[in-house]
Amino acid sequence: MHRCFIGIDIGTSGCKSIIVDEHGRVEAEAFCSYPLSTPQAGWCEQDPEDWWKAVKLTLSELLRGFGSANEIACIGLSGQMHGMVLLDENGETLRPCIIWADQRTTEQCREIYDRVGGPEGLLKLTNNRMLTGYTAGKILWVREHEPGIYERARIVLNPKDYIRFRLTGDYATEVSDASGTGLFDVRRRQWSYRLLDILDLPRELFPECYESVEIVGRLSDTIARELGLPLGLPVAGGGGDAIVQSVGSGLVKEGTLGATIGTGGQICAVLDSCRDNPEGKLQLFCNVIPERWHAMGVMLTAGGALKWLKDLLYEDGLDTASQDRNVYKRLDELASTVDAGSEGLLFLPYLNGERCPHSDPDARGAFVGLSLRHRKAHMVRSVLEGVAFGLRDIAQIILELGSSPEQILVSGGAANSGVWRQIIADTLGLDVFTMSASAYGGAFGAALIAGTAVGAWSSLGEAVEVLRVETEDRPIDRNVAVYNRLFPAYRDLYASLRSVFGRISSLQL
Ligand code: XUL
Repeated sequence: MHRCFIGIDIGTSGCKSIIVDEHGRVEAEAFCSYPLSTPQAGWCEQDPEDWWKAVKLTLSELLRGFGSANEIACIGLSGQMHGMVLLDENGETLRPCIIWADQRTTEQCREIYDRVGGPEGLLKLTNNRMLTGYTAGKILWVREHEPGIYERARIVLNPKDYIRFRLTGDYATEVSDASGTGLFDVRRRQWSYRLLDILDLPRELFPECYESVEIVGRLSDTIARELGLPLGLPVAGGGGDAIVQSVGSGLVKEGTLGATIGTGGQICAVLDSCRDNPEGKLQLFCNVIPERWHAMGVMLTAGGALKWLKDLLYEDGLDTASQDRNVYKRLDELASTVDAGSEGLLFLPYLNGERCPHSDPDARGAFVGLSLRHRKAHMVRSVLEGVAFGLRDIAQIILELGSSPEQILVSGGAANSGVWRQIIADTLGLDVFTMSASAYGGAFGAALIAGTAVGAWSSLGEAVEVLRVETEDRPIDRNVAVYNRLFPAYRDLYASLRSVFGRISSLQL
């Protein structure tokens, strides 16, 4: 029988659900957005009920157009990472979810470091630093600021695992999302019970943890009837969006890098064995592929830098190009009129602080090397180059783990720009590929996990054979040489400007 798999991605702006068949064809897709609330500066919350409504709406829409629900063989889940959903003994949510982008936990992260004996102590337990966005600090925050709610909490779930609970009635998670809580022993692929004890967090608060490609629960009869899906339909473990997305864009083997460039940028690699995370600079998580790990570094501003420049150049009424829907194409054309190296103009892309390789909220952007010769086109090109240098900066840390990649799979908005792809190829000295289906993000990867969980493919490695190469850009030697000469100057920019950024910030202008 022709079998199909549902992939559901609980994103930050909305839920995307798709149906994919055994050949990797997307048979149906649906999207439903939901709100984000920011009750105070730096706080970000969402109502889990909104996710659930969006899941049901997208599933009904998918199935309406599809017609053969009996072909659906499994559901896979992907979701925004690091969120904290707290449920009481009846499975009712106790408060809105504090999501990944929330930054209220600086104090709690400090407390965690104090209790474990500093960053080195934490690296021994979890192989990761404690970022303010991670779940751990949020639990401590609620314990401190909302003790009545903390007292009633019986289980903590990540966003996509809350959806699993609504679909199946089971509390469970899997290794990739559990890694992002900051409480997981990534080396052993289990909760760090030692850390839970040190932080006085009851072990029962944390759900049973599975591998991502295992079947973890089945659709409850009520929900199956309500949605018109097969009774007892299996639900796979799934994974955290950053990792599921990389698998969905074809990244399954050590020796290839992945880069996703949206507003922020992420560069990542699959690891065959768990390596020590140097100074905790990377996020080193369990991969959704069994016995594999996922190393990644996140740039807070990547595509966002180009958007900033576009708005600056075209939306202030000085240029009629604001009418042009293809303004990004125009920026591409401009950038291609300038040679590699932008005649010595360098751009530092830290417009909103940075996470990796420098964890520094005060870091800022800069154009350095401006001269009378520089025009709009040089600025556009140097923004594209600055982001590519930022990717190379993170890639070098990944290479120090002992990986030696020959190619990089690029996805996200930048994948649509031929000029940017070539700049990435030339800056990193790697072949750049884009693959079909990467536009479907986490939902596609989730569907591949679902198919793998029920044996349609023997492994995720086999599953990604359904993907096709869409574009291929090879490094141009002459440009590679230019970027190799410029890169040390780029690296020195932050070192030179760091104290200036600190001083500007302390002026509180
Ligand atoms: C990963 C991360 C983001 C969120 C966004 O560390 O912060 O990818 O998962 O959805």
